[in-house]
Amino acid sequence: MKKILILGSRGMLGQELVVQAQKKDCDVVAWDRSDLDVTDFKKLKDMILELEPQVIYNAVAYNAVDACEESDGEYAKLQKLNIEVPTRLAKISKKIGATLVQYSSDYVFGAKQREIDYSGGYSEFDETGAVSKYGKSRVEAEKNISQILDNEKYYIIRLSKLFGSPASSISGKKAFFDFMLEKGKEAQKTGEKIKAVDGEVSKFTYAKDLALESISIVDENSESGIYHITNEGVCSWYEGLLELYKIVGLDDVVVEPVSPETFPRPAKRPAFSALKNTKRKPLRHFSEALRDYYGS
Ligand SMILES: NC(=O)c1ccc[n+]([C@@H]2O[C@H](COP(=O)([O-])OP(=O)(O)OC[C@H]3O[C@@H](n4cnc5c(N)ncnc54)[C@H](OP(=O)(O)O)[C@@H]3O)[C@@H](O)[C@H]2O)c1
Repeated sequence: MKKILILGSRGMLGQELVVQAQKKDCDVVAWDRSDLDVTDFKKLKDMILELEPQVIYNAVAYNAVDACEESDGEYAKLQKLNIEVPTRLAKISKKIGATLVQYSSDYVFGAKQREIDYSGGYSEFDETGAVSKYGKSRVEAEKNISQILDNEKYYIIRLSKLFGSPASSISGKKAFFDFMLEKGKEAQKTGEKIKAVDGEVSKFTYAKDLALESISIVDENSESGIYHITNEGVCSWYEGLLELYKIVGLDDVVVEPVSPETFPRPAKRPAFSALKNTKRKPLRHFSEALRDYYGS
């Protein structure tokens, strides 16, 4: 029976990977921080060498995009979790012949500004260029992994704007849709207007769909390399929110489109970072996934 290890198993994506992998005929080992602090590098190596999994899904990450721009301490955490850990996992995977699945982000793009294209986006083969420390950390990890595992099996899966069941882990952030759902319900009572950024155009990703696709990529013994896995539908935060409110019956709430500058934040975000998937069958449209998750 195939033994698979899921790191970050209580995060939004990690927990969905556990649910979906457990439905398959394989031995699923799920670790989160309470089982192993992945920044304890000796333990990381020892525990994985002892377990000898055939596949490692690394859903652990540093996701505080703004905090790491301004604080040296946070920047050090970013480097450890988003560069050192994946790099070490690649070396460990090589040693035991395991397939590594590492997650990355649309924030690897944005330095060379592109026209917003509602039917296109960046392909897996496009040159990266990040505009934030977070984005740069992902670029560096991607490069390290592809060098170390050049002749081995590995998958780097880029995604954007994740939504789904909230993470059960301590540091789990509220997803945009969950946050705006609460605000919308409140606004329906008070008549307050909601502001949403009509920018940072990309795609949403439903954690369940991504988990299933991640498992399929490995099971089908797909070619090693970078994959773009998101739901279909290029849109801004504002356009995504209108879709959510329509589905949950909050379409009478007034939503005002605003520019990204309305909410200044320390980290720059790409104006357009839609990920074009040229390698796999496209996932369903995000509105269908939204209906599946939020619809009654
Ligand atoms: N969320 C998005 O919109 C988005 C967008 C693009 C890419 N991604 C990428 O997709 C992947 C999954 O994201 P996600 O939103 O599911 O992340 P998440 O919910 O924040 O989960 C991350 C997990 O990592 C664990 N973790 C953090 N530090 C750890 C440590 N030192 N040792 C062990 N575990 C540790 C966390 O546990 P604790 O809570 O205990 O720290 C948590 O369970 C990540 O690579 C992320 O960067 C996400």
